[in-house]
Amino acid sequence: MPAGDKGEAVYSDDFIAKLELLWGEGFLSPGGSSEIAELFRGVDLTGASVLNIGSGLGTMDRILARDHGAARVLGVDIEAQLIERAGAAAQREGLADRVSFQLVAPGPLPFPDNCFDVVTSKDAIICIEDKRALYAEAARVLKPSGRLIVSDWLGGAPPYSAEMHAWMGSAPGHYFMMTPEDTVRLVGSLGFMEIETLDRNDWYCHMVREEVAQISGPKRVQMAALFGEAEARAWIERVGKKAAAVEAGDLRPGHLRARKAG
Ligand SMILES: C[S@@+](CC[C@H](N)C(=O)[O-])C[C@H]1O[C@@H](n2cnc3c(N)ncnc32)[C@H](O)[C@@H]1O
Repeated sequence: MPAGDKGEAVYSDDFIAKLELLWGEGFLSPGGSSEIAELFRGVDLTGASVLNIGSGLGTMDRILARDHGAARVLGVDIEAQLIERAGAAAQREGLADRVSFQLVAPGPLPFPDNCFDVVTSKDAIICIEDKRALYAEAARVLKPSGRLIVSDWLGGAPPYSAEMHAWMGSAPGHYFMMTPEDTVRLVGSLGFMEIETLDRNDWYCHMVREEVAQISGPKRVQMAALFGEAEARAWIERVGKKAAAVEAGDLRPGHLRARKAG
């Protein structure tokens, strides 16, 4: 799942293929287009310019332009091969005039103040250690009254359960999780208003059990053919550990929506 902003590439072709097997082609996070619709429920993107932080394969960017009316979507990511693949997919779909991608370095966003109507991110901020700097940058590049619309892997309050430690120890990259409450406090302290959160733990508890069932059952053979038997076994074990961490309440997908002051 998450990468790190420690400089190393995490999203190898193999890792991408494993995630796509769980979550569908083009998705490095769960829920597909229906979860994106849930995240943006009631938000009118008509004519909006959108920045997507941690755009991965760029699927959400294309969905926001194609199905949600965004005029322009710019995805940024720290991994060059993801940026290339995302750009190629936008090109193939005839969306390249509205959907583009830019490789960035972790840290300050290379954009002027007040230039996007919406800043979004799907399950990527977990990779970023300095959340205050990240959300301050989101506030800076948003236009006055602009919307912050984020899905992220949030955490329960430490100390974490044994299940959470077992999952964290088994996954690649680095994880920096905040609780929903601390996230609300942080964005509030940066001047965001109208802050709302939606806990997606119940939803994902159900989804993650289905992930385990799929890769242990119908997708087992396909997985072993793609990655070999030992890797397939290790992946099933790792997804099982994730399921236990989610069920322990320590790994909690959640949505955050807020507005920059006008
Ligand atoms: C779990 S993936 C999610 C990708 C995509 N949003 C999706 O839902 O399919 C996290 C993404 O965040 C990117 N990422 C990690 N640290 C980042 C940073 N500091 N700035 C921008 N992107 C980052 C990773 O390279 C990866 O593409």
